Order: sequence, then structure tokens, then C-alpha cells
Amino acid sequence: MRATNIILTGMMGAGKTTIGRDLAKQLHKRFVDLDEVIEKRAGTSIPELFEHYGEADFRKRESEALADILNHTNQVVATGGGVIMREDNRNLMHRDPVIWLALDSTTAAGRLVFDGTRPLLASGTGDSSVVSEIEKGMANWRYLERERRWAYSLCDWIVDAAESPAVIVDEIMAWCRRWQDTHPDHSSGKHPWKVDHLRVNVPEQPYHIHCGWGILENLGNRCRAEAGLQQVLLVSNPTVFQLYGTQAEKSLEAAKLKWDTLLIPDGEEHKHLETVELIYGAAFQAGLDRHSGIIALGGGVIGDVAGFAASTYMRGIRLVQVPTTLLAQVDSSVGGKVGVNHPNGKNLIGSFYQPALVLADLKTLQTLPRRQFLTGMAEVIKYALIGSYGLLGDLESYEHGEVSRAVLQAWVQESCKLKAKVVAADTEEAGYREILNFGHTVGHAVEKVAGYGRYTHGEAVAIGMVTATILSYLRGYLAESDFHRVVRLLRAWGLPTTIGELSVPAIITACRLDKKSRAGQMRFVLLERLGSARFGEIITEDELAQAFSIQRGGGCDEDSGN
Ligand SMILES: NC(=O)c1ccc[n+]([C@@H]2O[C@H](COP(=O)([O-])OP(=O)(O)OC[C@H]3O[C@@H](n4cnc5c(N)ncnc54)[C@H](O)[C@@H]3O)[C@@H](O)[C@H]2O)c1
Repeated sequence: MRATNIILTGMMGAGKTTIGRDLAKQLHKRFVDLDEVIEKRAGTSIPELFEHYGEADFRKRESEALADILNHTNQVVATGGGVIMREDNRNLMHRDPVIWLALDSTTAAGRLVFDGTRPLLASGTGDSSVVSEIEKGMANWRYLERERRWAYSLCDWIVDAAESPAVIVDEIMAWCRRWQDTHPDHSSGKHPWKVDHLRVNVPEQPYHIHCGWGILENLGNRCRAEAGLQQVLLVSNPTVFQLYGTQAEKSLEAAKLKWDTLLIPDGEEHKHLETVELIYGAAFQAGLDRHSGIIALGGGVIGDVAGFAASTYMRGIRLVQVPTTLLAQVDSSVGGKVGVNHPNGKNLIGSFYQPALVLADLKTLQTLPRRQFLTGMAEVIKYALIGSYGLLGDLESYEHGEVSRAVLQAWVQESCKLKAKVVAADTEEAGYREILNFGHTVGHAVEKVAGYGRYTHGEAVAIGMVTATILSYLRGYLAESDFHRVVRLLRAWGLPTTIGELSVPAIITACRLDKKSRAGQMRFVLLERLGSARFGEIITEDELAQAFSIQRGGGCDEDSGN
């Protein structure tokens, strides 16, 4: 942090200049006000620039000044509120921490002076009544804030700008102290405080997946500033709550959110409608209304069940996903599928419901049991096989090595990106989204035939991915060496690759009954090459039996001669 620039962003009235000055003094950095630099260079004021040359010209000057400023280091930079809206500006800011001073409109109304010095707030109607100037100015402020919020949320940290400057400066100083002895990752050059943001472009309401280290502490401010929430129900289980509950609650309290907590029992066996009823009960008791939200803090089970409750309570309230398992971070929290099990089968009751935001804190993975971590790695490997040859190479190069935070963050980010891309192209599972089920038809069958609980979901999917890879080889899409490569990778990550002593006829029957089968025909996702999948491939029972015979008969071993 010593030589790093710190960039402050936020709406007019957030106090970027005052706070920037104080912060720079405390951190022994130089303070730079972007607007002042633009005015100095132009030799005139910003209102004058707007009046004579228009906003487009001003934005150009702004970008040029920003580029020059960020060529230097060890500064606190207060930016204009609209700077972050432009992608080229965001790219310039990418190397430095960006802190959003998030302000609510009531506080803004008490702070702003509508004297014509802020061109974007000026009404321009010629109405000279002071009260109406303020009203119009604030209407413009609120409009701009709504328009810009998505861009502000692409920051690394959020502070509540309604606090006093001293409190805000202390908070930012504490954040800086946390990172002062850390260094960028040697392979990627990425700083440990950098948060990755992925915009998921679903038609209803685009949202962001934020992925970073230690960002759970920012949950409250994200809920308030980004999702516009004031009241929430935090849903978790005792295992996760014991580890991360205090941190989550502290952050909700610091952000002055009204919150209640509900713990539901841990385990897949509790993913049913009675648990949803419990959540509805707690939500009514807490007085949640249509403007409130539910936070799902935990693995895929919590995300699915709390997400389903959020999607149906009062016809749907906002959902914030805080996934704490690798599987939940790369899979279940992305894509908007929420639901519960039914005595007739897994995930049979549910809906498609997109969250308001997803906050994936990689630090929470530190406490995840190894087997749970590997079950998530099976999904990461799946993404590589169906959609990213580059990721596949990366995973192979780390087969036996320690994975750094930055590398893991890159894998989670790449996995989410792939899933989000597929989901955005097919939000309601009309077809293409099927590729995400690579390895799942046999995986589900293995889970069922082996008896639920013997294999984790990821382990079963790993076995299924090998079957599907062999089928792809038998269809002539892959070379034999490709399927050996897949098996080698899965084994290197400690995942099972054979069906062992399980009954082949029983697995085939279970595959025939799979949800994805149509008119009795088994539909599989196969690989057309490593890194690319095709869906809707009809597979006969004979072909499947042949694949199992290769998989079980040692055909997965490179020296077997198969
Ligand atoms: N909605 C979807 O698109 C989707 C996709 C894939 C899977 N799923 C669902 O996800 C569920 C599986 O998710 P999962 O693998 O996360 O299981 P899980 O939620 O049961 O979590 C596994 C275990 O890890 C514990 N745990 C969670 N976070 C922890 C942490 N940080 N440290 C220590 N322990 C922690 C949990 O309490 C639990 O005991 C299944 O119900 C599956 O159907 C849904």
C-alpha cells in the first residue's frame, strides 16, 4: 500500500475532496483532485467548460487528466462522480484500489448547495424558486445515482459516506493497514485487495458477482449501497454461522441495516419445503416487506433453500448470495436456479430467480474441509472441459502444486464467467444451458446407485465426466490421448474416475430415468474437443455399456492399451 494510489469515487456530496485531503495527510500521500486538475489545465471552471464545450468534451478532458495523474504513484485521487462510468477510465484505475464513498439521498440533500456550480444537477428550466431548484437538483441527483450505481459497485471497498469525515478516514486507514504488508501475486501481478467483478447480463436485472479476499466484512455496505436494502434476514446454518456469522452481522450493523438471523439445520436432508416454511415464518416475524432482502450465507444448500424462499416470499424479494463453499461460488450461486428437494427427487421444486448481488469471499474457503474443496474443483474442471482450453492447461500446471489466492481467484472468476455466459444465453434452460450438465447424467446415477452420501456431488460428477469423455472418444470427437488427459487431471486433483463395483445395469436404468431424458432416449453432453461441448447427443444403452466397460476395465489407465 505504501506507494499505491488510492482512488475515491462516489456521487456529488459524498465528501471525496475533504476525505481525500485528510486521508492523504494521514497516509503521507499527495492529494490530487481530478476536477481541480481539469480546471487548471483548461484555465476555466467546470461549469464554464460544460457551458461552452458540452459534456462530451469535458469527459474527454477528464480521461486525459486521469491518465496523466495515474502515471504517478503514492497519491490519493478524488475523482469526479461520473469518471467510473467509462470503461477506458476503469481500465486506467484497474491497478489501484478504488473506494466508493456511498451516499444516501437524504444525507446528500442536507449537504449539497444548488448554486449552479454543479452543471449536472442544474435544472435549466429557468424556474427561480429556491425550493424547486433544490427539488429538481435532488431529482437529478437521484436519477444520476441510480444510473451510476452499477459502475460504483465495481469498486474494491465501500464506505458509508453519511458518516463524519473522521470516521470515514479511520475506516479507510484500517482497510489500508490490513493490506500494508502484502505484495502482488508473483505470477499474475494482481494485488490481494483487488476484487474481481463479473456482470451477469440477465434480461430481468443485470447483477454483479464480486469475488475477492476478506470482502465479507463489506457485506453490509454492499447490501445497502449496491442492492438498496435497508432490512434483511440473514439465513445460515450453525456450521457456517459459527465461522462467519459474527463477521457478517458486524458488517450489517456497521452499515446500519435492520437485520434478523435465522439458522436452519446443516445438511442436504434439510433442503425441503418445511425449511422454506421456517424461513417464511422468520421473515414475517421480522416484518420483512417487499423492499427487504434475504441473505444466503453458506454453501449450495443454504443458497438454494434461502434463494427459493426469497423468490416466493411476497412474490419475490431481493436475494443476496454469499457462497462459502467452492461449489457454491463457482456453480450454485451463479445462474439463478433456486429450489428444494421433494420425496420424488432432488431439486424438483424450484424456480429461476436472479440475485441482486453475489459476494464470494475466497477467505471463507480456508475452513472448508479438503473433500468439500475438491468437490468444487470437479466443477472447475468441468468448466475447463466444456468451455475453456486455457483454464484446462492452467489446472494441469497446478496439478500437484500449491494454489495461490490469486490463482484460485482467477479460476473462480473464469468458472463464473463461463457459467454466466451460458446462463445469459439461455436463462430458462431451453437448450444451450444443457452443456453445464456435462458429467451429470452418470454423476446423478452414481450418487443414486451408490446410495446418497457415499460420493460427494463433485466426486460423482468426476466419474460421470470420465464416462462422457469416453463416449466422446467412441463417437470419434476426441483422441484417445484426450481422455487419458482428462483422467490424469481428475486423479491429480484427488477425484475418483471409475465406477468401481457399482452395478452397470442399475446405473444405466438410473440414466434412462434422468430428468434430461426425452421419450425414453438418453441425452448426453459430450465434448467435441477439449474445451468445447455439444449437447443433446442421443446415446444408446449399448454405447453406454461399452463406455462403462472401458472405464471399469482399466481403459482409463494410459498403459492399458485400450
Ligand atoms: N442452484 C444450482 O444451480 C446448483 C448447482 C449445483 C449444486 N446445487 C446444490 O448445492 C448443494 C451442494 O452445495 P455444497 O456442496 O456447497 O454443499 P453444502 O451447502 O451442504 O455445504 C457442504 C458443507 O460445508 C459446510 N460449509 C459451508 N461453507 C463452509 C466453510 N466456508 N467452511 C467450513 N464448512 C463450510 C456446510 O455447512 C456443509 O456442512 C446441493 O443441494 C446441490 O443440489 C445447486
